Amino acid sequence: MKAVVYHGPRNVSVDNVPDPKIEKPTDAIVRITSTNICGSDLHMYEGRTDFEPGNIFGHENLGEVVEVGSAVEKVKVGDMISAPFNVSCGHCSNCEHGLTNYCERANAPGIAGAAYGFADMGPWPGGQAEYLRVPWADFDCLRLPEDGREKQNDYVMCSDIFPTGWHATEMAGLMPGETCVIYGGGPVGLMAALSATLKSASKVFVVDRHPDRLKLAEEIGAIPIDRSKGDPAEQVKAQTGGIGADCGCECVGYQAHDVEGHEDNSATLNALVASVKFTGRIGCVGVYIPQDPGGPNDLAKQGKVPFDFGMHWFKGQAIGTGQCPVKRYNRNLRDLIHEGKCTPSWIVSHELPLEQAPEGYKNFDARAQGWTKVVLKPQMTA
Ligand SMILES: NC(=O)c1ccc[n+]([C@@H]2O[C@H](COP(=O)([O-])OP(=O)(O)OC[C@H]3O[C@@H](n4cnc5c(N)ncnc54)[C@H](O)[C@@H]3O)[C@@H](O)[C@H]2O)c1
Ligand SMILES: [Zn+2]
Ligand SMILES: [Zn+2]
Repeated sequence: MKAVVYHGPRNVSVDNVPDPKIEKPTDAIVRITSTNICGSDLHMYEGRTDFEPGNIFGHENLGEVVEVGSAVEKVKVGDMISAPFNVSCGHCSNCEHGLTNYCERANAPGIAGAAYGFADMGPWPGGQAEYLRVPWADFDCLRLPEDGREKQNDYVMCSDIFPTGWHATEMAGLMPGETCVIYGGGPVGLMAALSATLKSASKVFVVDRHPDRLKLAEEIGAIPIDRSKGDPAEQVKAQTGGIGADCGCECVGYQAHDVEGHEDNSATLNALVASVKFTGRIGCVGVYIPQDPGGPNDLAKQGKVPFDFGMHWFKGQAIGTGQCPVKRYNRNLRDLIHEGKCTPSWIVSHELPLEQAPEGYKNFDARAQGWTKVVLKPQMTA
């Protein structure tokens, strides 16, 4: 089959690789019809992780089940499914507690949490390919209703960024009527904004500097904060009676940059401490990593962040971190899409055949104007 393979920093190609096979009776094989490029892929694409050359990308996967192992009971051949980016077994102690983001069995012993096509997240090939092997298929597949094919650009967001955006607002403790500031107007930040809107936030601020991304935020009623036009925390305070937002979401990660474009892994975290009120909560879903050899300075290389902990503590704030437990939310978010309550595909700018993945990576990585979310279509011919 064809798959998007990593060869080194900013070097991907569509190669022929062996087809995945049923390896365990609990596996399913899925013919991928939609698979997104994610900001998480970009950390790997840029060579800023341990992702190894030869690995296949792709953790935001949707498609049709074409084969099931002998122990798969619920999922049937022909079902359209969304696969959570978290690979999880369903019966370890973390999975039993709903912490499928930290499954104890899907990665190497001693490391909790696994994902498809991801650095340090276990042995699972990604789904930017014609086919994907889904382990623990009855647990991991979310079956889609009869509009699963027609609305796949909406449902494909259920494998990662819609639940992840929702999770950011959950960790931020957002309640109806509250104000919420979101750093990052990429796909994850926009999904956090959508989630905050669905939760009836009174004001949702989205901070970025790219006009196309800020415009998408505005389209769903969020207030765009252009950080190139002045200190974003001051802009947020000016619109929240001087006290700051009730809560905040970090949707950028360790490659955050200052307005001049220099990387600064503390930029968004410290801006959130400043933008959120005393006692407010912050949900950090942007990725931070334990070592970053390609980081811009000695602290960053060790995965350390000069965080304004003094001010964070002084303000009595709290922060939540980590990968999103997609299964906690994906069923309900699927049903919101099915019932027409939201259309997360509004952020999709490009649908490309797999062959054009290199072009998709290049432009999405450059945050090129108009490249806000790329959905790869392995069944589409160039
Ligand atoms: N925790 C999870 O489960 C999970 C899931 C998916 C993605 N992620 C992570 O979420 C992050 C965002 O993903 P994405 O797909 O939206 O990526 P993206 O890179 O497309 O978007 C990031 C946005 O942040 C903006 N930005 C950079 N520095 C900023 C700053 N100082 N202030 C405000 N905005 C700033 C950029 O202009 C860009 O628009 C990544 O780190 C990704 O790895 C985490
Ligand atoms: Zn993703
Ligand atoms: Zn588990």
